[in-house]
Amino acid sequence: MTERNIATLYMKVDPVHPEQKAIEEAALILRRGGLVAFPTETVYGLGANALDGQAVARIFKAKGRPSDNPIIVHVAGREQVSALIESLPVTAEMLMDAYWPGPLTLVLPVGEMVPQEVTAGLRTVAVRMPDHPVALALIRAAGVPVAAPSANMSGRPSPTSAKHVLEDLNGRIEAVLDGGPAGVGVESTVLDMTSKVPVILRPGGITPEDLRDVLGEVDVDPAAAAGFSKVETPRSPGMKYVHYAPLAPLRLVIGKPEAAALKIKELAGKEKARGRKVGILSFSKNDDFSHYGEVVIAGCREKPETVAAGLYSALRRFNDLGVDIIFAEGLEELGVGLAVMNRLKKAAGGHIIIV
Ligand code: TXA
Ligand code: MG
Repeated sequence: MTERNIATLYMKVDPVHPEQKAIEEAALILRRGGLVAFPTETVYGLGANALDGQAVARIFKAKGRPSDNPIIVHVAGREQVSALIESLPVTAEMLMDAYWPGPLTLVLPVGEMVPQEVTAGLRTVAVRMPDHPVALALIRAAGVPVAAPSANMSGRPSPTSAKHVLEDLNGRIEAVLDGGPAGVGVESTVLDMTSKVPVILRPGGITPEDLRDVLGEVDVDPAAAAGFSKVETPRSPGMKYVHYAPLAPLRLVIGKPEAAALKIKELAGKEKARGRKVGILSFSKNDDFSHYGEVVIAGCREKPETVAAGLYSALRRFNDLGVDIIFAEGLEELGVGLAVMNRLKKAAGGHIIIV
């Protein structure tokens, strides 16, 4: 998995009005079966022509991704969706009206044209229209739908900048388009539209409240709420893998902010006394952790969007700092806070301390 032998082409583009020359070049790479990383509003994606099974197979190889984990297909317009699916429920159309382009992925019955590398053999396909000028321009110029998981090595935090992409994939992919930082910071919401009541398989940028505004009833898969699955074959195959993990073990401390901060100080103090380098992930400037370890402030607790935007960068920062163990504060599971907590629980791999 350490093999790196492709010269990765780096192209900086304007995030609002991307230069056509760079877009054309990247689109050509996609049409020829190559891999291009590009910014979306959530995180950076690693794209391949979704209708070319061999090209999609290369994504799995470059990322070290388990072959049973299906990939989201990105479109630049609603007209591209019908070729990918068998049928479109009215409820899906209502959601597209409300939230596309945007961080909402819809799981629908798969059509015949989609290769099984994309779906990992499932009878459904996940589709989304990203809300980013660079992503949309690239898909349009390629003239094909683009299969794209997050552009990180499997198991590492998702990339929210081109720098993160290169840390993981330089030499393994043909090109990266650098359109600056990704805004939302956590991945799209994955919503299964194939059951009577739609089910959130992965919480993300569009919240359960947003979805209920349009649909009324929406369920949350237990694995999505818990952050991990005890089931061998969860409905979203990605749920069974430990994701988003920094290199050091992470302990998530959940409770009232003051009580959680005290507990973190107690635990971090013990680790420090044992001579270990401690990292602390905080969502407030006022917690005063600096005596206990290396503090990274990912955002502000009162504004969960800022925590979402800074989360993955913060997890990568702990890798750079070379800490031995990380203690993280929690957030209220409201709005995008639900997605943040899902990612933190996954990063903790079940090591959760409730105070
Ligand atoms: O925001 C995002 O969704 C980003 C950007 C690049 O668009 N993409 C992303 O892809 O996060 P990835 O591969 O890292 O996560 C895709 C998730 C996985 O948990 C996968 O199991 C699930 O979506 N998924 C894909 N196709 C599915 C399907 N047909 N049925 C159920 N789950 C599916
Ligand atoms: Mg991913």
